[in-house]
Amino acid sequence: MNFKDIHFTWFYIGAISALLFLSAIVDMQSKGYFKKEGFYCGGVVAMDSSIIKQNMILDSLERAKQEQILQKRGLTSEPEILSLGEELFNGNCKQCHAVHAKVVGPALANVSERRTVKWLIKFIKFPQKTIEKGDKYAVALYKQYQQFMPNHDFMTDEEINAILSFVEHESQYVY
Ligand code: HEC
Repeated sequence: MNFKDIHFTWFYIGAISALLFLSAIVDMQSKGYFKKEGFYCGGVVAMDSSIIKQNMILDSLERAKQEQILQKRGLTSEPEILSLGEELFNGNCKQCHAVHAKVVGPALANVSERRTVKWLIKFIKFPQKTIEKGDKYAVALYKQYQQFMPNHDFMTDEEINAILSFVEHESQYVY
């Protein structure tokens, strides 16, 4: 055996091992092994599923950030509270308000960024009284809209909080 033959022998051994290795990988992939690890196909390149995973992580970070902002403002994104808020909004506010559009009253998107929840609860319960007491922000709104919003003092703080949580949740989506 000369030097060239030895070279070829190693080449074949190398090629066969590489094939065996790849077929083992393909076999493991077909059994879903790499999916668990977040890698597709051969583990050579991190592919689709790891990108999907990254997006899921980014989404959950975004949600966590949103949740933190809501909590700081005294609101929540709990699904039951949001659906209660939606129901109450549709029954009591929708005739005059939308989240992203001006109707009879202002668009309510991000309203809890403009005012504190405490202020909003007071205003929603007694809008006219708040305006008549001379609250600067409320007076400016009234000058613009020229109309009193009806009192909602039959609502509890928790119910208004649910409406505001729903509004804030909807504010994230731009239609
Ligand atoms: C009959 C119409 C009407 C209804 C019903 C109504 N609003 Fe209003 N709302 C207004 C008007 C008009 C204004 C502007 C302020 C003013 O002129 O009194 C306003 C202002 C507001 C503001 C202040 C907005 C801002 O940009 O700071 C909030 C918050 C608000 N309304 C929430 C609600 C909620 C919550 C409900 C339901 C529980 C509701 N409104 C029901 C007419 C209405």
